[in-house]
This record gives sequence, structure tokens and C-alpha cells, in this order.
Amino acid sequence: MKVHVFRDSAALAKAAASIFLAQLLRKPDSVLGLATGSSPIETYQELIRLHQEGIADFSKATSFNLDEYVGLAADHPQSYVAFMQQQLFGQVNFKASHLPSGVAENLEAECSRYDQAILQAGGIDLQLLGIGSNGHIGFNEPDARFVYNTSIVKLAESTIEANQRFFDSLDQVPRQAISMGIGTIMEARTILLIATGKGKAEAIKGLVQGQIDPLLPASILRAHPDAVILLDKEAASLLKA
Ligand code: F6R
Repeated sequence: MKVHVFRDSAALAKAAASIFLAQLLRKPDSVLGLATGSSPIETYQELIRLHQEGIADFSKATSFNLDEYVGLAADHPQSYVAFMQQQLFGQVNFKASHLPSGVAENLEAECSRYDQAILQAGGIDLQLLGIGSNGHIGFNEPDARFVYNTSIVKLAESTIEANQRFFDSLDQVPRQAISMGIGTIMEARTILLIATGKGKAEAIKGLVQGQIDPLLPASILRAHPDAVILLDKEAASLLKA
């Protein structure tokens, strides 16, 4: 696991976008794993800029997102489909983009379908991750064991509270999501986790300096052969030098 600390989120976003650019240049038909939430927004803005300048071309690339809320259709403004459309897809040229459907009639079947679709695409080359302040990746919340496959997950109270900022009230935040499993994430050839701000410092300390423990799901990344962690100074503030 490589850890890099940047002076601020803008420098971090440039570095993250460069890793995506290098991946696309090396393999134009890359399968990219993407995330939602606040963490990737500046990286996506950098990728949009690189695309507008004719440097980054996504026309042969496909993407798979980590997760989607159960019960929110694609046209719901807080769905992750809508988020991705607004923050990235509407402004770059992916060949195809995939998210699990949170309104599929059979959600269990949707989970299997999603894992199969990733396999059929050849697996994920580069997976972008944020991290919850409780150490979740995707929506794999702290638990007694790691869940391997894409599955329906119950969001932790702390996640519901953290995500309230995107909704009008706490009641409107969905309680469940479909999330890529830990195994699905770990099968990505390269993993790029980004974290900014003091609120992530405890989780980052556990990830970088603790033991592998399903109570801190991100800690599994210690076992990944090619995981890169990009932090700003605040997210890195509890790490020993
Ligand atoms: C998003 C996701 C989550 C977020 C995490 C951090 O697709 O899977 O794991 O990355 O909750 O969220 P932010 O970036 O909003 O702090």
C-alpha cells in the first residue's frame, strides 16, 4: 500500500486525475470503477478539464460505480445515477457506464447481475474509493465479517447522518443500498483511495497503521497488491511520521 500526502485537496485531485489519465493512455478500453460522495468531485472536475483540453479520452472506456441507494430511481435527484450524470458522465465521453439499479424488481438478482457484468467486462482495472468516517468502502459498513459479493446493505446510522447533507431531512435518506462487495472491490487490479479532511483522520489511521479488521472495512486494502492512498494533510494528521 502506497500512501501519499498532499498539501490540499486541489493537489490531491490533480494527482488522482493523473493516475486515471495514465490508465487511459496505457489501456484506452479500461474498465474504471467510480465512486460518489464529496471526495471524488474535484478529481472528476480535473478529468473533465483534461477531457475538454483533448488530453483524456474515455470513448473506449467503461465504468462501474460502487453503489446506489435502494428505492431511488434514476430520475431521483439524489440517486447516484443522477450524481454521476451531473458530476462526470454528462461532460465526458464514456463508451458505457453502469450503476446497480436500486429499484430493480428483484434486488438479489440485480446484485448477481452486477457482479456478472463486471466479470464480463474483464474486471475493474482501476477502482476509485472514498472512505466513510467509520471506515466503510462502497457501502460496506463495519461488521463482524467481510461481505464478498455485491449485496443489499443496511446503512450505518453514522452513514445516514453523514449523507443527510444531500437530502432535505434525515427521514428522506434511504436506509439501504446496493453496494459492490469487498471481494468485488479487492479484485480490481489497482485501487485508488482518496480522503480529505479531519473527519477521515481516525479511519485513515486505522487503515494505514491498524490491523485488517471487518470493523474497519477499508483495512482490507492492506492486503491488496496495488493500493494507492492519496490524502490531504488533515486526513493524514493522525499518522505517525
Ligand atoms: C460512495 C461510496 C462511499 C463514500 C464515502 C465517503 O460511492 O461508496 O463509500 O466514498 O461515504 O463519502 P464522502 O466522499 O462524501 O465523504
